[in-house]
Amino acid sequence: DTKIWHLNPSALDMRLINQAAAIIKRGGLVAFPTETVYGLGANGLDGKAVADIYRAKGRPSDNPLILHVADTNMVRELSKNLPPKATLLMKKFWPGPLTLVVPRASHIPREVTGGLATVAVRMPHHPVALALIKASGVPIAAPSANKSGRPSPTNAEHVKLDLQGCIDAILDGGPAGLGLESTVLDLTGAAPVILRPGGVTYEQLLEALGDVTIDPSALGERLSKDKAPRSPGMKYKHYAPAAPLILFEGEPEKVKAAIVERAEELLKGGKRVGILATEEHAQDYPPDSKILKIGSRKNPAGVAAMLFKRLREFDQLQVDVILTEGFETKGIGLAVMNRLRRAAGERIEC
Ligand code: TXA
Ligand code: MG
Repeated sequence: DTKIWHLNPSALDMRLINQAAAIIKRGGLVAFPTETVYGLGANGLDGKAVADIYRAKGRPSDNPLILHVADTNMVRELSKNLPPKATLLMKKFWPGPLTLVVPRASHIPREVTGGLATVAVRMPHHPVALALIKASGVPIAAPSANKSGRPSPTNAEHVKLDLQGCIDAILDGGPAGLGLESTVLDLTGAAPVILRPGGVTYEQLLEALGDVTIDPSALGERLSKDKAPRSPGMKYKHYAPAAPLILFEGEPEKVKAAIVERAEELLKGGKRVGILATEEHAQDYPPDSKILKIGSRKNPAGVAAMLFKRLREFDQLQVDVILTEGFETKGIGLAVMNRLRRAAGERIEC
């Protein structure tokens, strides 16, 4: 059975933190909040414990994990020759939603890196996560704490639904802040490449580095079959609610009209239709559909924070199909569209 411990992030109960750290040290699994989404943690230097993460999530074991650290000294243990850009970015964006892919030290178990010559590291900006890592005294390997393929968990309830009974403990520190995962940036090539857009935006990285590109698979646009993604995780189905999701991209008024038309057609055919709608358009959709509001177009951070929660709510509503408005790929919008395009798979309409 899974223990569930409540923690107030601004007044940590160190007794609970130490109990959770004891589980990590003896090779167990603990889910914990970060500022992005909830993570499922294990001792990142214990290959057997890390293998249990894959088992609990049902995750393919060639998809490597992020090692979470509590300070930059821990990173120097994990990567013997850190690129100078890593030092600069750590200063500027840590703790925070930026994961750096760097050359790995040889003692890191292959279960963490999936056999790659690189390792992904990040220092989360959350008091519970940082206290847990410090008390454990080891880097904590942690993917998002969802069953593989499901939307990432943005609160402890989501973790419970996916993983209760499969892990040792859940630290409930309330809702995660950003609601989308960290940006994954590869620093091992000639120029930095964004492998997954996330909390730290392309625009912020461009300003800090002067030079950064986005891996085509990270845009989430349709992948051509012969182009293998550089981040192993990008080849798997992701973020998907139970019902098929159709994403409508383009100019907002046209998107609205296309969704109205499609919803009416589906409703006529007796389908239960879910619509993920902006506040600006929600009142214009057929009232027989199940409309969930994602917030205003004017507040992309609010949209990001609600996205995974809303996708999971459609499962509860048991709709047959989900129609979704698309967003601009500026700022955090790029991460939102990456997740929506991947949830939609091939079902993108313009
Ligand atoms: O915000 C986050 O990053 C959350 C919280 C818990 O920190 N974690 C998270 O982990 O989203 P996960 O496992 O769901 O996603 C990690 C991503 C995957 O796409 C994986 O393929 C990529 O990082 N990754 C990990 N190690 C890598 C490496 N050495 N080279 C390239 N990509 C790597
Ligand atoms: Mg994940």
